[in-house]
Amino acid sequence: MTDTLQASRHATGGAEISPPLVSLRINGSVHTLAIGPEVTLLDALREHLGLTGSKKGCGLGQCGACTVLMDGMRVNSCLVLAVRAEHRDITTIEGLVRDDGTLHPVQQAFIDHDAFQCGYCTPGQIMSAVALIEEGRAADEAELRRHMSGNLCRCGAHANIIAAIRQAAEQIARSPEAARTVTPEAARTVTPEAARNTTAQAGAAP
Ligand code: FES
Ligand code: FES
Repeated sequence: MTDTLQASRHATGGAEISPPLVSLRINGSVHTLAIGPEVTLLDALREHLGLTGSKKGCGLGQCGACTVLMDGMRVNSCLVLAVRAEHRDITTIEGLVRDDGTLHPVQQAFIDHDAFQCGYCTPGQIMSAVALIEEGRAADEAELRRHMSGNLCRCGAHANIIAAIRQAAEQIARSPEAARTVTPEAARTVTPEAARNTTAQAGAAP
């Protein structure tokens, strides 16, 4: 039994109380989870929804391995409580691939430039790169390096990572549609019935 659950039972004279429901809109689908207010967005993704692409490195906001987009902005999901992510559009690395399997230009560029070794930092690097290209911060290499400095790579693949991001930025400048991720409009088309189905599927995830 968790400390939280034990404390809840003490507070309620032994009766169990259910954790609150939290609705998260992730990669265009709504998931409703019964999780405590202390659960981080990263743990909700990895441990409750089986979306293990976002990695847990430091858990302290220092490595960037857990980077996801919240309303298009980069956040360290280990520092965001899941309840604070309600009603926001969350995009994870899993949400970058199109339905037909086409990779996002940043993902393809990382492959083209061999921009990873162990790969642990790679999802966070890619999510940061997607956002900063969208912010128009990838044109200048010094600025690009500065804005990627929150994403650490213990394998030392930084040179190839920067080359990959520059290639992707050039491609996206020529063809912005190639960089489309899940849109808020798509998220709003999710019906309550679909949300219940999604939640049921997520509950079956390992
Ligand atoms: S795991 Fe979130 S910043 Fe390191
Ligand atoms: S590729 Fe290993 S930590 Fe970056």
